[in-house]
Amino acid sequence: MKNVYITTAIPYVNGAPHIGHAMDYCLADVFARYNKAVGNKVRFQAGTDEHGNKIFKKAEELGVPVEEYVAENAQVFQDFIKTLEVSNTDFIRTTDAEHERRVQEIWRRLSPYIYKNKYEGWYCSGCERFVTDKECEENGGVCPDHQKAYEKLSEENYYFRIADFKERIREAISSNEMRILPEFRKKEVLKLLEDSPDVSVSRPTSQLTWGVPVPDDPTQVMYVWIDALSNYITVLGYPDADISEWWPATAQFVGKDILRFHAMIWPAMLLGLGLALPKTIATHGFILADGQKMSKSIGNVVNPMDVLSKHGVDAFRYFFLRHMDTFSDSDFTWEKFEDAYNNELANDLGNLVQRVATLVRKSMISVGADLAVKYRGGELPREFCMLMDNFEFSKAFDFAWEKVQGLNRQIDEEKPWSLAKNGETEKLRECMLSLIRGIIEVNKMLAIFIPGAAEKIDAIFTDPIEPPEEPLFPKTK
Ligand code: MSP
Repeated sequence: MKNVYITTAIPYVNGAPHIGHAMDYCLADVFARYNKAVGNKVRFQAGTDEHGNKIFKKAEELGVPVEEYVAENAQVFQDFIKTLEVSNTDFIRTTDAEHERRVQEIWRRLSPYIYKNKYEGWYCSGCERFVTDKECEENGGVCPDHQKAYEKLSEENYYFRIADFKERIREAISSNEMRILPEFRKKEVLKLLEDSPDVSVSRPTSQLTWGVPVPDDPTQVMYVWIDALSNYITVLGYPDADISEWWPATAQFVGKDILRFHAMIWPAMLLGLGLALPKTIATHGFILADGQKMSKSIGNVVNPMDVLSKHGVDAFRYFFLRHMDTFSDSDFTWEKFEDAYNNELANDLGNLVQRVATLVRKSMISVGADLAVKYRGGELPREFCMLMDNFEFSKAFDFAWEKVQGLNRQIDEEKPWSLAKNGETEKLRECMLSLIRGIIEVNKMLAIFIPGAAEKIDAIFTDPIEPPEEPLFPKTK
C-alpha cells in the first residue's frame, strides 16, 4: 500500500466552469479511484484560484465586491465538482486565511532567491504572465490564447532567480525524476528551459491590490502564480506541518497551456524550499469544438452543464474519458456525443445488463451470495493496470469496453435462450454464471470511470439478480 497524492489545476473564478476544467477533474478522479481500487491511500486536492488582475477587473465590471464575487463563484465550482462525482478529499481557496499566511511564509523562505528590480515589458492579463519582447513581436502584440493586446508595464517589482535552479530542473526532467507526460511535452519544456529568464513575482499595489501582500513590503502584492502554485503544499499544511506523508505528489494534472508554470516556476520554488519534486506532471490537451478552439467570440463554447443535463453524469464522464484522448487535443461534437450514448452506453452496456439479468430471472438461476462476493473480490486485469499506471486512461477504458462487447458476443454465440428452450439446464447455468462473472469483473473497471452506473450494476448483480425496471441508459434514437 502506497500513499498517493493527486492534484488538479485550480481554475480562475472569473466565470462559470467550462468544459476544459472538467478534463482536469475527470482525469485526476480516475487516477484517484484506480489507486483506491488497487489498495493505495489517496489524498486528492482541488480548489480555486481567486487572486489577480482579471478576477479583480471582472468583479469591478459587475459592480460586486470582489470578496463576494469570488465566494459565489468558488461555490459554483464546488457544486460542479460534486455533480461530476469527483472524489477529491480537499478543496482549497487561495483566499483562505490559512493559505495566505502560509504563502507569506513560503515567500520568506524563498527570499534568498528573490530580488527587487525595475521591470519594463509586456503582460497578458488573460494568462497572468509576462512575455518577452520576442514573443510579443511574434504574436503581433496580441495574445493568441486570449485575443487581447499585451499591456506595456513599467514598474518596480520582485524577481525570482530561476537561473539558480535551471540545471537541476533540466536534469530532473531529462532523467524522469520529474516525469513530464506525454513525451512530446517533455521535449517542449526542455526547449523552454533553455531560454527562461528570471520571473517577476510581485505587482505594485498601485497597480493591483487583489493579491497576497508581500511580507514586510506594503507596496507589493504577490504575483498570482506564486500564490496559486503554493496551494498544492499549503493545502497539506506546509510549512506549519510535516507533509512528507503526502509530498512529493504522485501526479499533478494540468492543461497544456499551464505546463510551463508547472515545469519551471513550480520546481524552482520547490527546490528553493528544499522540497522534493513531483513524480509526474500529466498534461492533457484541449477540448475543441468542431475542430476549433472554443471561444466566446466564435460562439462555439460548449457549456458543461448542457452536456451534463442531456444524459447525466455517467454519459458525460464516459464520453470525456473514453472518446477524448488523455493527452492530445480532442474534438467535442454533439453528434459524436449522441452516437456514443446510444450505440455504446445504451446498446453495448445497457442492453448487456438488461439481457443477462432478464435471462437469469427467466431461467430462475441463483448465483448464490458467496459466488457473487467471490467474483467481486478478484484483482483488476494486469493489462488494464499497466495502462492506468502509464496514465493511458482512454486506452484503459477501451480495454474495459472491449470486455463489455466481448460479453455481448458471448451471448450471441452461446444463445442461452435456445439452451433454455432445449432443456439443457446444466449448460445454461454454466453460460449464465460465466456472463454474470464477466459483468461483475468488468464492472470493477467501469467503477473507476463511471461510478454511478457501476454502482447500479453492482446492485443489480447481487443475489437475487433482478433486471432493472428502467433501462440504465434509455435510448434516444
Ligand atoms: N488558475 C490557473 C491554474 C493555476 S494551477 C496552480 C488557470 N486557470 S484556468 O481556469 O484558466 O484553467 C484551469 C484548467 O483548465 C487548466 O488546466 C487549463 O489547461 C484547463 N483548460 C482550460 N481550457 C481548456 C480547454 N478548452 N480544454 C481542456 N482544458 C482546458 O490556468
